[in-house]
Amino acid sequence: MENIVSAKEKFGALLESQRRRVAAMRAQGDFIDYASLPQIVIGVCGGDGIGPTITHEAERVLRFLLKDEVASGKVAFREIDGLTIENRAAHGKAIPDDVLAELKACHVILKGPTTTPRAGDEWPNIESANVAMRKELDLFANVRPVKVPEEGIDWTFFRENTEGAYTLGSCGFETEDGISVDFTITTTDGTQRIAELAYDFAQKNHKSRVSIVTKANIIKATDGKFLRLCQEVGKNYPDIVTDDWYIDIMTAKLVDQKRRAEFQVFVLPNLYGDIITDEAAEFQGGVGTAGSGNIGKRYAMFEAIHGSAPRMVKEGRAQYADPCSMLRAAVMLLSHIGYQEQADRLTEALDKCMFTEKALTVTGRDTGCTCTEFGNYVMRTIEGL
Ligand code: IPM
Ligand code: MG
Repeated sequence: MENIVSAKEKFGALLESQRRRVAAMRAQGDFIDYASLPQIVIGVCGGDGIGPTITHEAERVLRFLLKDEVASGKVAFREIDGLTIENRAAHGKAIPDDVLAELKACHVILKGPTTTPRAGDEWPNIESANVAMRKELDLFANVRPVKVPEEGIDWTFFRENTEGAYTLGSCGFETEDGISVDFTITTTDGTQRIAELAYDFAQKNHKSRVSIVTKANIIKATDGKFLRLCQEVGKNYPDIVTDDWYIDIMTAKLVDQKRRAEFQVFVLPNLYGDIITDEAAEFQGGVGTAGSGNIGKRYAMFEAIHGSAPRMVKEGRAQYADPCSMLRAAVMLLSHIGYQEQADRLTEALDKCMFTEKALTVTGRDTGCTCTEFGNYVMRTIEGL
């Protein structure tokens, strides 16, 4: 509980922390060049619940595709096993210091889902490991593709990943007269870099349209700035049409079968991106089928968009977990570090195993195949391509 004086002090300290963050952002160099590295280190964090099962499977497939690169020493895998809820709770930290140091010694990270504590559950109410990792490694772009080829849907979401409601999501407070406050942050530098990445992607991938999604009519300072700066960046790309939408109508338009195939690239603040990408993933078969890339200039992390499914573990069904989300994340990882040919082969195999051939299916229980059997099926399919 804060009185008005201590509340003002807290608010001042939060603003100072954001000024430091902006300064650090400005001091950063350009994107890392993987090709010039003597070795690319891929860190593998299993996480919680079904995380270790599906992450291990994706690692097996990655090792299979990168056999030659591992043999030559160009690529190395490193296990990081301290990112479990038990270890995080024991240290009272979203990411314990030694685990953070291990993460920072890698170039890219393949990460399984981690349990996010919430008030009232068995864990201390520490910050989400995802959110902490995105902040610590400055992974400012959350790139989430969604495809439903038979409906013509081919969307790529650029969710701002380090600002908005998430930056100070654990820093809100309540005053003694019952006023609770949270904060949402939009910075000039933070908005420009996500907008540039979205438009660059659109240009390189021959997309003709970028849609900016906000609630700028109501959230005027932060969403208003996000919209305005994205539009300004868009002016540097005269071949790309920019349109803008409010999040409520965009949520509706995604279920409009007559209109939704027209969308291509979306750029949006953190919380709207979180919500709408779950909705979008549902059209391609659910969150279990969707991978996600968290991209920064020095680091990148690839993960599933769903949670750790502790119930599956409790019910003894972890071995039947679906690895497809992590395999899609593996595709994005391969492509990001420059192995596009391997990424394309994995995509082709996954499309065959998940949609066209479907010789085996994962159902999450013993009515379907196990996670390992599905991984084997994917590798057999790659061999047969
Ligand atoms: C996601 C997840 C996370 C988020 C949670 C687990 C903190 O929902 O990656 O979309 O809200 O960003
Ligand atoms: Mg989410």
